[in-house]
Amino acid sequence: MIPKFLRALSCTNEGAPPVWFMRQAGRYLPAYRSLREKYSFEEMAHRPELIAEVTRLPFQLFPFDAAILFSDILLILEAFGCSVRFKEGTGPIVQGSMKRISFENVAEKLSFVAEGIRWVKPELPVPLLGFAGAPFTVACYWLEGGSSIDFRQVKRVIYSDPLLLRNLLDQLTQATIQYLHMQIAAGVDAIQLFDTWASLLPLHLFQEFCLPFYRRILEALRPTRVPVILFCRGSSYFAPWIASVAPQGISIDAQGDLPSIRSVIPVNIALQGNLDPDLLFAPIPLVQAEVRRLLEQMSGDPGYILNLGHGILPLTPLDAVQAVLDCVWERSSATFEGVSS
Ligand code: CP3
Repeated sequence: MIPKFLRALSCTNEGAPPVWFMRQAGRYLPAYRSLREKYSFEEMAHRPELIAEVTRLPFQLFPFDAAILFSDILLILEAFGCSVRFKEGTGPIVQGSMKRISFENVAEKLSFVAEGIRWVKPELPVPLLGFAGAPFTVACYWLEGGSSIDFRQVKRVIYSDPLLLRNLLDQLTQATIQYLHMQIAAGVDAIQLFDTWASLLPLHLFQEFCLPFYRRILEALRPTRVPVILFCRGSSYFAPWIASVAPQGISIDAQGDLPSIRSVIPVNIALQGNLDPDLLFAPIPLVQAEVRRLLEQMSGDPGYILNLGHGILPLTPLDAVQAVLDCVWERSSATFEGVSS
């Protein structure tokens, strides 16, 4: 039997939707925080047995319908000879030259990721998502040297040196294709591309600096038949343009109204989302009311995947996560008993 998550991605799911959360393998989990007392983030992300352990952590508590590989979108920069460190409180720090942008054999440089996938895959009860950052978002961190409040450097390059940006995006796209082929060969069941900072761009620049690169990645992966979900901040607005490059799924940010978005997206593209991550800090009855409302609105949609509109936040209470899953379970048992359609 095809797992629910993959059925929804091919828009053939019946009954309650599958559910997983972006960043579900991370800091809101007490067990993750304990591991981080022993190891640095870099060490955890480079050791296959720890990659496997953290990928499995959420399943000790919650029966999500998909697992996401524990890794980070910035590690691909190691194939460009950059150093990537994650500093407590500051976020990532990227160091590396922009003089001659080139990468080495990605599968070799990042073989520890493939090994982590091979390690964890046989032990998972559900499909495994591999992932990569979309070229534009990875370029943002590279250009800024890390996180930024206003992305001043990125905006300067967009308007004053678009050739440099295009070259950078071109190289990142080639490396990302190699990287995702490696993850697929190692056994992931689906891929998600994260383009967090696409929301910095007005539509015409999104069409210039994001869409063509999504298209190239999707075309390169199409022969593998592994489904790809595109997530970006701004996806509530960009969704119809994202649909034009034909991913198998689009992950919608928390701003948009999912039923309205569904009405303009082809029925053969799955939609994922889009609870507000901050909702999980509300009193449980409010969390439940909001989740039930969304489930009701999307009920009967065979291509719907319940998720947040962005990653789960570090201090999220565990019982709010449980409340979301309870609402989905309530709906699936109601459907099963024929009480509701
Ligand atoms: O559950 C999962 O999704 C695990 C895998 C994963 C991580 N990062 C682990 C991580 C994924 C898919 C990401 C994606 C990622 N990384 C994005 C895109 C999605 C998004 O949230 O917008 C971005 C922009 C990054 C870059 C990044 N990595 C930042 C800005 C930071 C520091 C701030 C933060 O959110 O933690 C990281 C570190 C990071 N990546 C942690 C984890 C679990 C925390 C590290 C720690 O333990 O201190």
